[in-house]
Amino acid sequence: MRIESVSALEVFDSRGCPTVEAVVRCEGGRPCRAIAPSGASTGRAEAKELRDGGRRLRGKGVRLAVENVRTVIAPALIGRDGDHQQAIDRLMIELDGTPDKSRLGANAILAVSLATAYAAADAADRSPVEHFSHLWNEHARDLPATNELSLGRQPLFPTPMVNMISGGLHAGGNLDLQDFLIIPCGATSYREAFDWIVEIYWELGRRLNDAGFEGTLVGDEGGYGPRLTSNEQALEFVVAAIDGAGLKPGQDVGLALDVASSHFYHDGGYHLAREGRALSAADMVDLLERWVDRYPILSIEDGLAEEDWDGWKQLTDRLGHRVNLVGDDLFATNSRRLQNGIDRGIANSVLIKLNQIGTLTETFETMRLALSAGYRPVVSARSGETEDVTIADLSLATGAGQLKVGSVARSERLAKYNQLLRWEDSAAGRWPFAGRLPFADLKTPPA
Ligand code: PGA
Ligand code: ZN
Repeated sequence: MRIESVSALEVFDSRGCPTVEAVVRCEGGRPCRAIAPSGASTGRAEAKELRDGGRRLRGKGVRLAVENVRTVIAPALIGRDGDHQQAIDRLMIELDGTPDKSRLGANAILAVSLATAYAAADAADRSPVEHFSHLWNEHARDLPATNELSLGRQPLFPTPMVNMISGGLHAGGNLDLQDFLIIPCGATSYREAFDWIVEIYWELGRRLNDAGFEGTLVGDEGGYGPRLTSNEQALEFVVAAIDGAGLKPGQDVGLALDVASSHFYHDGGYHLAREGRALSAADMVDLLERWVDRYPILSIEDGLAEEDWDGWKQLTDRLGHRVNLVGDDLFATNSRRLQNGIDRGIANSVLIKLNQIGTLTETFETMRLALSAGYRPVVSARSGETEDVTIADLSLATGAGQLKVGSVARSERLAKYNQLLRWEDSAAGRWPFAGRLPFADLKTPPA
């Protein structure tokens, strides 16, 4: 399955920001494309996007990254076997030669890595799910039995974690917390889950409008961006919307938070601007515990900041048996950082963002490490997304169990959700829906 051509061009993401699209073709196959996403609330440990600098598009152009694909990556990849994903990815890591992919650009490398997978699938006449399963099995074949939730062993329709209210850097700082999300864990199929989500989203919009808040304006990921009076008020609105949609909070639909606290942590304090107060790590843990007592929360992401490992330890000791504690900025999809967390007993789940690490192979390595240590992976989009649907295919194929894409508005989000609906339609019961599986061992039953 010889790679015959590799090219790239500058396209634009859901914030109008330039990004890299790569196009790869293998012998006997069609040209296949993939597009790198881009974050706004990025972690410091992430692989680096290469941007042009200078005056054009405020320095955000990616012509240099595109040029790197054409002049450095393409000549090295052409003629190689596109099915050897690990060798292709290793070769690009070597060509780059930096620990954070800053020379060629993680945006350039990731787009090529993913486009190669699609091109190899096409040339082999495999569906993307079959091909991603085949690549994932090279890593997960010998997953030890410590993975008690049996995630990662077969394709699973992921339980979506869906943004209802947006704050932080994704909605102009209306609230301190970045995402207030729902998890339709009690649904019996992905399609049923999706119906519930849409009902709740519409109900929430109506309730926000009726109460005089913005129930139409949406943030970067499609969640509403109301200027509420406190962070907790968002939780109250979401619970009321679940109830108002005729569903049972906790039983049918749980809550999740992405606190994204790295972005309001300075000088050793957590600065809740909306509430005019600064909290210590211990205060933050108390606050989150109070919310877990009061609301049916199943998952908390980045409850503490990326460099506050001691705070994270306190949080894990206190809440790690009750909710999924997801490291996003904390781990940055980096297996070295995740190993450090596992060694120190920090968090129990990891957000998986392909562009935080920059290749498909390294992403699989981090997912494998997570599952082998009993940590749960949550495959995630970035706040800057496109029509690219790789994360939908990948989350299904790997049986990761959870997918976090944003809300049910904005087509760069729906592209992923709709892709899973298509798979469900064509799979005819072949693959189960993860449902409650990723939350099965939590000790407190949802309130
Ligand atoms: P980002 O946000 O893509 O802006 O980093 C997503 C997240 O924090 O999970
Ligand atoms: Zn996050």
